[in-house]
Order: sequence, then C-alpha cells, then structure tokens
Amino acid sequence: MQFMIDSLGGAIKGAGRREYGFAELLIKQPKGIFKNIKDKTQCWMSHGDSAEKLPPGFEITASTDNTAIAAIVHKKKKFYGFQFHPEVAHTPEGTAMLKNFLFDVCGCKPDWTMKSFAKETVEQIRQTVGDSKVILGLSGGVDSSVAALLIHKAIDKNLTCIFVDNGLLRKDEAEKLKVRLKENLNINIRFINAANTFLKALKGVTDPEKKRKIIGKLFIEVFQTEAKKITGVQFLAQGTLYPDVIESVSAFGGPSSVIKSHHNVGGLPKKMKLKLVEPLKYLFKDEVRQLGQELGLHDDLVWRQPFPGPGLGIRILGEITRKRLDILREADAVLLEEIRKNGYYKKLWQSFAVLLPIKSVGVMGDHRTYENIIAIRAVTSKDAMTADWAKLPDALLGTISNRIINEVRGVNRVVYDISSKPPSTIEWE
Ligand code: XMP
Repeated sequence: MQFMIDSLGGAIKGAGRREYGFAELLIKQPKGIFKNIKDKTQCWMSHGDSAEKLPPGFEITASTDNTAIAAIVHKKKKFYGFQFHPEVAHTPEGTAMLKNFLFDVCGCKPDWTMKSFAKETVEQIRQTVGDSKVILGLSGGVDSSVAALLIHKAIDKNLTCIFVDNGLLRKDEAEKLKVRLKENLNINIRFINAANTFLKALKGVTDPEKKRKIIGKLFIEVFQTEAKKITGVQFLAQGTLYPDVIESVSAFGGPSSVIKSHHNVGGLPKKMKLKLVEPLKYLFKDEVRQLGQELGLHDDLVWRQPFPGPGLGIRILGEITRKRLDILREADAVLLEEIRKNGYYKKLWQSFAVLLPIKSVGVMGDHRTYENIIAIRAVTSKDAMTADWAKLPDALLGTISNRIINEVRGVNRVVYDISSKPPSTIEWE
C-alpha cells in the first residue's frame, strides 16, 4: 500500500507514532474486498511509517484509531491496499478478505490442491535436476524431511541426505531421529557426528549472531567435506520455507533488514558452486505438514515442533559449555514430557526451555542456593511470522516448574515468558 501511494503521487510519513499489535478495523465500505467482513474486526498492525495523503482516484475503505488510512481502493483501476497484515492468524478475517480479492475482484478459481502441488513439484524437480546428483542437509524437522521425500520421489537414488549432529541437539534426539529417519525415509542418509568440532569453536562465545555465524560456517564446512565424497553432485536441496525467505532477505531484493541470520538460507550454494533446489520455498509450515501427510510421512515427523538450525546453541544465553548443555537438555526434556503428556504438543507451535545467563538466590532445605534460571517459552502460531504466548493452565506450569527445580541439578528458579511476537521473537537469541 505504501509503495502504491508513494509511487502514484501520494505521501508517506515516517515513524512518529508506531503501531504494533491488535487494532480494530473500522470499515467504511463494507463491500468488495470487505464483503461480509464485520465492522471492528480485529486486525494485526506492524508498521512504523504511515500514509499521509492519498494519490488521485483512491478512497479510504477502512481506518483504525491510530491509522486513518488503513485500507484503500482505486475503484476504476482495481488497486487495493492494506496497511495491516491480512495474512497472519491474528487478523481472523484476513483470509476472508484475501478470498474476496482473489475470487470476486480478480475472478480466480480455488483449484490449487496439495496433491496437484506435489505432482507438479515432483515433475519440476525431475526436469531441473535431470540425471545429476542432489545432496540435502537433513535436520529431522518436517521441512527437510518433506523436501527429501519430494526429491526422492522425483529422482530416487540420485539424492543423498546428510545429517550433521552439531552437539546442540536435545536429549537423546540424535539417536531417536536416526531411528525415525531410517524407518520412515527409504533414502540414502549419511549421519555425521561433529559435536566436538562445534563445541570447540563455540568456546567462550556469547554473542548470539556470532554463535549463529560460527554454527552456520561450521555446518557448511562439515557438510562440504562430506558432500565431496559423493561424485557428480550438481544440486543442493534445502527445505527453505517462505517465512525464512521473507525474514532473512527481502523477498523482492529490497533493503528490508535481516532480523536474524537464519543459517539455512544462503551460504552453502555460493561456497559449493551448487545450484539450488528449494521445493518448499513458497509454502508455509501448515502447508508443509499437509504435504507431508499427503506423501505418507510418519506423524512423529509431520508434527514435530520446529527446532532452529543452531539448536540449543541459541537457547543457552551466554557461553555454551557441556555442563550448561546438560542442564538445558534435562530441563527441556522434563518440559516436553509434560507438554506431551497433557496433550499440548500438537496444539503449540513451539514449547522449549531456555537457560539464562544469570543466577538467582534460592533456598533448598536449610541451604541457600545460588543457581541457574530456566525460562519456559510456549507459543501458538501459524507460521512463526507472528506468535502469541500460550495460556497454559497454572497447574501444568506448576508441575513443570516443580519438576525442573527438583529433578535438574543446578536450577533453582523457573520463569514463564509472556511476550508475543512482535515485538519479541520466538527464540530468545
Ligand atoms: P524467531 O525467534 O525469529 O523464530 O521468532 C522464528 C522461527 O524460526 C526459528 N529460528 C531459526 N531457525 N535457524 C533456523 O533454522 C535459526 O537461526 C533460527 N532462529 C530462529 C524459530 O525456532 C522459530 O520457529
């Protein structure tokens, strides 16, 4: 909307009053794109600049208390603009607005299905790759697993997957994943244990972006060494999703800032002179899960909560040591056990423990303690672009806290994170 206004002769003004979070949309024209949308419907705002003056021919179709120009239309040209985000779950009627736009304004038909997507994508992969070999970094998450399945379907044994254990995985995770991946994916997989290399390189590092860069760089090195052992590789496959693309680089090559350097985007292909295959890059997570089910992926893998590439490395605030990894692993295992047992695992987008870089005083028995603090993060989300902290029952939080403090040596306090994204992020680093 701002681009349209700016380039067609209107005016945008900078910051002043920033607007983040929920707003009520006061609809002035309840037709067209707002057909059947109720007045004062909730919408999600996240902007610093605002529209000040409309270009000729445009009208305001909705406002909020803070933003006079929240939606616009040029009826003759059929140009529409929203200042809010219709695409996020926090705008409950956003999908209905987008449907109005696609099916009424543009006259499109909803004939895109996961089945047709899978079929077309397999065909595209075959055409792009031909007889060349493809390598893929398998993390055990739903994205890389689904990407592997699709590519395997297209080119069979010409795909080799490489699983790098960076020593920053959760308790027993590497072993469990090994079993799951082998029984579910009848694919060439090479398992590499590189824990020592990663932990050595991370010694003494506390800055989150430095950690990410080190982990990313080492991953590339380990991966590259392994990939060199396979002859004739021309393509690198990645399970990149659309939100990764948006948050790491501007989708349109513009100057939008890098929020966090997610290491699974970029880096590898440049170094290895490989061409990229990213069959999921226009999909959101819920669509990838749907696709996984369509392809027959096991439920455990389809519904695995997202886990970041840098793993526990960005959930240990401050220095990463084996001792601190052990503390976090035990606390996280207790948390996940309770979340699963109480039926919340699938309902939550992510639930995990974070080890803080400060200590606090406590009392255990007759003794004063001075020990670590664990923060619990549990969020609901549809695509990680926005997220809300989960309203877990008090009793469950109580059990988690008690169990962690009693069972995990070195922890004497548990806190619950009640921030949403934005303005916070899901991970703490
Ligand atoms: P944030 O913390 O940015 O996270 O709200 C959004 C989603 O991305 C995951 N995440 C990462 N994934 N490499 C990854 O592969 C990373 O460096 C990274 N940082 C965050 C996070 O777990 C959440 O699902």
